[in-house]
Amino acid sequence: MEITIADGKSIPAKAGESIYEALRNNGIYLVASCGGKGVCGKCRVKIIEGRSRIKAAGKLRKKDKEQGIVLACRTFPQENILIEIPEDAKLVIGNKIAVSKSKGLLEFLRSVEPVFTPPVKCAVLNLAPPTIHDHISDLERIKKALAEKGIYGMSFSHDFVSSMSKSLRAAGWKVNLAYTDNLEAFALSPAECMNKYGIAVDIGTTTVVLSDALWR
Ligand code: FES
Repeated sequence: MEITIADGKSIPAKAGESIYEALRNNGIYLVASCGGKGVCGKCRVKIIEGRSRIKAAGKLRKKDKEQGIVLACRTFPQENILIEIPEDAKLVIGNKIAVSKSKGLLEFLRSVEPVFTPPVKCAVLNLAPPTIHDHISDLERIKKALAEKGIYGMSFSHDFVSSMSKSLRAAGWKVNLAYTDNLEAFALSPAECMNKYGIAVDIGTTTVVLSDALWR
């Protein structure tokens, strides 16, 4: 059997294979948050021509069904079919649509340049220790070093300021200052300790998103 996509591309489909599986096996990826279990309702395609066995319609609305929309993971072609993939069902990663000749999704993901936009940044500060002639406060010293890097408007919590003097001296005045996107300083660590990793896991009802933040 063949599945033809409205843009002209045709792919083979084996008996017993769902539309979702046939597309995926041919390097065409749909949004499928539940992994093809018929739960999320995201893998929508429109059947324009041809017979298919629809095992379940999940969350599809009556209006969608009337227009020929089906869940690709719960629909099995019975003959050659013609389908259309709505834009919002195509898997988009970065600025690429995951419709490719790649053998597997993992391979495709590896081909997408990772873009790190961590919510936490780090400034390396090499401070001059106080002397009898240079006796500004530790906080002013940090602000001055930040200004030299073009960073202005940083705010410092009471907790930060309370531990700041000890951290500066313990690190020999060469420190990494960690701060958030909205310029709130929250940690000081010795400058030689450069690689810090943070990880956030968001477990939703149907989706697991793993995001990592790398700050240097
Ligand atoms: S992949 Fe979730 S409903 Fe099809």
